[in-house]
Amino acid sequence: MCSKESKLPPHVLIFPLPAQGHMNSMLNLAQLLCLSDIHVTFVVSEFNHRRILNRTASDSALERYPGFRFQPIPDGLPKDHPRAGDSVIDVFESAIKFMGSYFDKMMGEKDLLASANTRPVTCIIADGVLSFAADFAAARGIPLIYFRTISASAFWAFFCTDRLVEANEIPFQEIGMDDLVKSIPGMEGFLRCRDLPSFCRVNDTNDPILWSLFNITRQTARAKAVIMNTFGYLEQPILSNISKHMPRIYAIGPGNAHLRSRLGDTSTPSASLWTEDRNCINWLNAQETKSVIYVSFGSITMVTREQLLEFWHGLVNSKHKFLWVMRPGFITGEDEDRIPDVELEKGTKENGYMVEWAPQEEVLNHPAVGGFLTHSGWNSTLESIVAGVPMICWPYFGDQMVNSRLVSEVWKIGLDIKDSCNRIAIENAVRELMEVRRDEFLERADHLAKMAKQAVSEGGSSYCDLNGLIEYIDSLII
Ligand code: UDX
Repeated sequence: MCSKESKLPPHVLIFPLPAQGHMNSMLNLAQLLCLSDIHVTFVVSEFNHRRILNRTASDSALERYPGFRFQPIPDGLPKDHPRAGDSVIDVFESAIKFMGSYFDKMMGEKDLLASANTRPVTCIIADGVLSFAADFAAARGIPLIYFRTISASAFWAFFCTDRLVEANEIPFQEIGMDDLVKSIPGMEGFLRCRDLPSFCRVNDTNDPILWSLFNITRQTARAKAVIMNTFGYLEQPILSNISKHMPRIYAIGPGNAHLRSRLGDTSTPSASLWTEDRNCINWLNAQETKSVIYVSFGSITMVTREQLLEFWHGLVNSKHKFLWVMRPGFITGEDEDRIPDVELEKGTKENGYMVEWAPQEEVLNHPAVGGFLTHSGWNSTLESIVAGVPMICWPYFGDQMVNSRLVSEVWKIGLDIKDSCNRIAIENAVRELMEVRRDEFLERADHLAKMAKQAVSEGGSSYCDLNGLIEYIDSLII
């Protein structure tokens, strides 16, 4: 090694699944590393890179980090593929097959992305769902760290699939949906069959998707270390269980709060793939304190027109104001994403406000917001915890089933209405959250928000784990 290279900082290659919830959290991590003078190459699909550039000046916002750069690569999908909603499964499959082999070739040809001022890649931090990264890293002798974008509890539930099958807890019968699960250590007291990841809802114990997800989860242990976007106070018993199976765990979350705390301001670049409609902030400014329920189901969830109407009637009948994110492609089978009924439009004008995409963190931190009707995606859950906003959870699939149970039964900062979608249940849930049990939910949410902020402040558990991660990355330089 020449003496110039020996002085260069570590160079980390970060590779998220090219989907909104994965990119957000891994971009936060990228910035946290840049703040410690680590060079970061962030792999992004060409499609998403164009969307980010068209939408904002994110690249220029990231210019504050001289060691940061995007590395766009093709995702192998046709130009007109929607890459959202139900078709996110194609994104997943194409990332594993196409992006994996493209990446392999690129790294070989480009000499591990070394340049005059950047050393060859020191280690890879790959999204935990990108299984090819473990083979690539082993074959090339590059240290690999996996980053899991889901909660530690959801990860642990996936990790214990084999135990569930051995104990005959999968498949479960419709009638046993509310039975408590016994074979996941640390979750015996609160997790019902209904709350297991949705992929556990199978009739056949040989279900290929169930085992494929189990294998992906298990191979996380092949990495030298695992980063989890959570914090000790929130999930310590589960982190302790997981740590028995992993060489090193760094729980550095919530990533958004951690970044803000280290930056000392709120202007963090966003990785939004849709244009944020900031007019909703003006609308929120005109509402009373904690009077509005924010409604958003993330980047993948899709609903039928019938479900949408149940939500809408429930919200309107509750008489509470609402701000609703109606993402393009959110309604299944609708050519046009709008509420095609004059009466509904009128009701919305009186009670609510709709946007295609919101600046979500800013919305959740707005004083007018008093509740969040959410699909329980992990980023949304953490963002709500940090903002101290109680939740009504309507999980859609996967890990979200576990998260919603944690919200209602473990942290007790909201309600879980999974598997039901009718206007009366929704109206009742809104009233319970915003009126009947408002004070108790707000008190606990406020406490948890304080704990989250403490975790990322100097001396806090996530703060120390991030420092540990940075030291570990430094030690990988040979
Ligand atoms: C899914 C999973 O459910 C999640 O648990 C996993 O970690 C990643 O994949 P997604 O459906 O996108 O994620 O939900 P979520 O994890 O909540 O992420 C959505 C992100 O989009 C959040 O960071 C949220 O702030 C952002 N968002 C959402 C906006 O910025 N504006 C919006 O209007 C809606």
